[in-house]
Amino acid sequence: MRGPFRTRPAAVLSSMLMLLLYATFCRPTSAAFKDGLLPNGNFERGPKPSEMKSTVVVGKYAIPQWEISGFIEYIKSGLKQGNMLLIVPEGAFAVRLGKEASIKQRLKVVKGMYYSITFSAARTCAQDERLNVSVAPDWDVLPIQTVYSSNGWDSYAWAFQAELDVAEIVIHNPGVEEDPACGPLIDSVAIKVLYPPRATNKNLLKNGGFEEGPYVFPNTSWGVLIPPKIEDDHSPLPGWIVESLKAVKYIDSVHFSVPEGKRAVELVAGKESAIAQIAHTIPGKTYILTFSVGDASNTCEGSMIVEAFAGKETVKVPYKSMGKGGFKRALLRFRAVSTRTSVLFYSTFYTMKADASLCGPVIDDVKLLSVKNPKFAQAVRVRG
Ligand SMILES: *[C@@H]1O[C@H](CO)[C@@H](O)[C@H](O)[C@H]1NC(C)=O
Ligand SMILES: *[C@@H]1O[C@H](CO)[C@@H](O)[C@H](O)[C@H]1NC(C)=O
Repeated sequence: MRGPFRTRPAAVLSSMLMLLLYATFCRPTSAAFKDGLLPNGNFERGPKPSEMKSTVVVGKYAIPQWEISGFIEYIKSGLKQGNMLLIVPEGAFAVRLGKEASIKQRLKVVKGMYYSITFSAARTCAQDERLNVSVAPDWDVLPIQTVYSSNGWDSYAWAFQAELDVAEIVIHNPGVEEDPACGPLIDSVAIKVLYPPRATNKNLLKNGGFEEGPYVFPNTSWGVLIPPKIEDDHSPLPGWIVESLKAVKYIDSVHFSVPEGKRAVELVAGKESAIAQIAHTIPGKTYILTFSVGDASNTCEGSMIVEAFAGKETVKVPYKSMGKGGFKRALLRFRAVSTRTSVLFYSTFYTMKADASLCGPVIDDVKLLSVKNPKFAQAVRVRG
């Protein structure tokens, strides 16, 4: 039975097995979705007329793909609220979350993987508005009080690690306002798989070029805010933490000038907008931190200073921005005093554009390396 007749079926069998293996292992792990908008993530498909009372949505499942609760309005771009004309960044429709209202969508995910959610929101009342974004058991209340764009819309990122095969994404207005109709507008909710990078022998920092990060809407030109006080292991900007009161802005090369690669970070709120990472270091050893300081080519002009901190050392890097793009390299040499060294950056000043929106210097291409020969480090420092 070992004749040529047996080899054929065996070959067929093995190629079938290969196919099966291919289908099982070579498929993208995020087969449930592609990075981008959630189903009806821009709310373009809305309730039937019978499921609305004026602008208020009636019925839990009236908005396709979403489950809603509380006071939700379905808003068409161009609607007037008082003397404010509402615009919608993606398509023509958005939803407004009244006091204690929420929108919810379930999505198939891969247990153990990291995901980031990006959504666009606009504040509509003068009060301090916040949104609680959650995928149980993780949640965060994101402040949306400070407006960074000139049209009132900003995009925000948040990340989670999937603990189950299904993620129930909830955006909730915890309702600090008195007026039940007061609440943020939401448009465009997207998701992206994150692949947290590791430190290597070429860079002791993870994600030093900021290339791994949240989804950026191709149609929005205002970047994505990485909110403050987000924990290290759940950062939408893997490796980095925003160690300050205000957000930093994640920018893309399609809409901005970035020093290296496709992504960078704009420090948009002076000393209130700092970004940091903890690196593993050997006490007594000398290290060199190099990075780029530039501007995003977004008409953010003026004399800027980026301050970098590592170990017990600090450097102030001046940069004169014409608002047209460009960057310079900078360097900080330090001796580690601990096994964990925090590397931190912030902008010394607040900078504003002509339209009064907040902006600032850009940092990118951050590298940390140990120095074998401190004399060489000295030479580099003098040149730097
Ligand atoms: C945010 O939402 C989560 C999930 O619904 C909830 O457990 C948490 O208590 C909420 N936090 C606040 C401050 O409302
Ligand atoms: C981007 O905007 C254009 C023009 O408004 C629109 O036709 C297109 O569908 C938008 N793309 C996405 C991904 O929403």
